[in-house]
Amino acid sequence: MPSAPAPSGPRRPGSPRPDSWWRSAAIYQLYVRSFADGDGDGIGDLAGARARLPHLAELGIDAIWFNPWYPSPMADAGYDISDYRSIDPVFGTLADADALIAEAHAHGIRIIIDVVPNHGSDRHPWFTAALAAAPGSAARARFWFRPGRGAAGELPPNNWQSIFGGPAWTRVTEADGSPGEWYLHLFAPEQPDFNWDSPDVRREFEDVLRFWFARGVDGIRIDSAALLCKDAALPDVTGAEQPGPAHPYTDRDEVHAVYQSWRAIADDYGAGEHGAGEHGDGEHGDGEHGDGEHGAGEHGAGEHGDGEHGDGEHGDGEHRERMLIGEVWLPDPARLARYVGPGELNTVFNFPYLNCPWDAAELRRVIDETLALNAPLGAPATWVLSNHDVDRVVSRYGRPDTSFSLERRPYFHGLPVDLALGTRRARAAALLTMALPGSVYIYQGEETGLWEVQDIPDELRQDPIWDRTGGADPGRDGCRVPLPWSGTEPPFGFSPAGAAAAPWLPQPKEWRELTVAAESADGDSMLSLYREALRIRRSVPAFAATSLSWRPAPDGVLAFDRGAEHVPGSTVRCVANLSAVPVELPPHAAVLLASGPLDDGALPPDTTAWLQAH
Ligand code: NOJ
Repeated sequence: MPSAPAPSGPRRPGSPRPDSWWRSAAIYQLYVRSFADGDGDGIGDLAGARARLPHLAELGIDAIWFNPWYPSPMADAGYDISDYRSIDPVFGTLADADALIAEAHAHGIRIIIDVVPNHGSDRHPWFTAALAAAPGSAARARFWFRPGRGAAGELPPNNWQSIFGGPAWTRVTEADGSPGEWYLHLFAPEQPDFNWDSPDVRREFEDVLRFWFARGVDGIRIDSAALLCKDAALPDVTGAEQPGPAHPYTDRDEVHAVYQSWRAIADDYGAGEHGAGEHGDGEHGDGEHGDGEHGAGEHGAGEHGDGEHGDGEHGDGEHRERMLIGEVWLPDPARLARYVGPGELNTVFNFPYLNCPWDAAELRRVIDETLALNAPLGAPATWVLSNHDVDRVVSRYGRPDTSFSLERRPYFHGLPVDLALGTRRARAAALLTMALPGSVYIYQGEETGLWEVQDIPDELRQDPIWDRTGGADPGRDGCRVPLPWSGTEPPFGFSPAGAAAAPWLPQPKEWRELTVAAESADGDSMLSLYREALRIRRSVPAFAATSLSWRPAPDGVLAFDRGAEHVPGSTVRCVANLSAVPVELPPHAAVLLASGPLDDGALPPDTTAWLQAH
């Protein structure tokens, strides 16, 4: 079913253009801790990322999404932020970030950063101030503090459970040493939830957005985007609540006002209304927002000349256009669609596609649903196979059950994995995914076919999920193992020669075959496939079409066209064989690319081909 083209017609200043970069971008997710270590401490950093920008330029991506890079006690790998306007020393400095943004732009690569609005860190100055303040104080009103239940307040205020396991409430000790109120944390105790009913919180995050847009950042990935607003009555849950207006903390209607205000800010910057010299952070001074910890003199853009990172350096208006992408896990497509409604987020992650098994009918259903959901709103689809929270694709597709869900990770880790099969399918899935209309996300290491590391020794595991579930859930460390770049032994070029420390998670010795260097030298490698696919996707006009047309195909086979059917030779057909038998290819002028060798002209099982039509 073809999707409608992006709406055209009069455009108000700052509203998205049909050719907006984020509508079709290939976006590389850079998990900075595990990408490349520049200083030899075993942890990836911005110097490492800068040094590897040429790899990303050669790969052919359009943008990088950085996982959180801010100062953080790292209780949840940086998703517990203590200062939203700086860089954690383990990763580098604000000057490094500025240089990285400028260098990426010079490579034609845009930068998306992660903003975490649902919760901060228990070391955030607002939270330490709240702990020092009295119950009922303004400082506590920025979070969810409540007295406990029970005769002496010894029970949590309600029965909510943390998404990482255990209760969602932690009791504090008051300044006088007595057991005191409880605070809410939907994730780890080190991640107190902000209270989005507080005007301080709203202003603060609007200012954080401006701070980074003013530094030249092109987009914001919004963490846990559906969780921000809570029912202030904080009622117990029964477990039967569905996300939506009646749910006490998931997908409440009030959250949309937050994103409408954020979109207006993004559009303002995209429209160039904050040209160089206009948008120094000084104009959003702390005097305005009551956050004494972030004096403009400390972090203000004013300390860096506009020539260094002002919008002026990014050329035309198209380059300046900013985008917002929401991390929204919702089962109901209609509720999900509300986030990309008019004047709201530009895009949301497509998690149903990621969770879908390697099954033609299921994938087609998800693809159709995705396109049907986005098309009427003029929003582009996103296609996501992997990220830093889920098992790697090669392992998922190598199991007897190829579906995935966060809740059932322990079950999936108990299944056998056929890595050769998973790799073949991951190659086929990459071509299927990159042929779909919309933007595509590539999680670092997918391009070299890394697999989930399931045998990390327990004592080396870092993910709080492992501890908080008492080891019942292995957590997400297995997809976060540092990348192999070169050489035949750990650290595989992840850290410089003679590094003081080993990589923060151990790398499997078998990854010597999956280094960037090894795969660069092999025309049949996963890396060569990704480079070629991204090159074709970017240069062949058919891939610019905003729709697809399904073609008849045997059971277990997906076939669709991209491009203008009325222009001879301009159509590209993608055929993915998810069945157990080889299938004949339809008539074609040329095979542009295939994920594996053809079998006497036929398309083998678990293989995808891109065909140039006659
Ligand atoms: C979603 C992020 O992707 C995940 O890594 C993090 O642990 C939670 N949000 C909490 O911030």
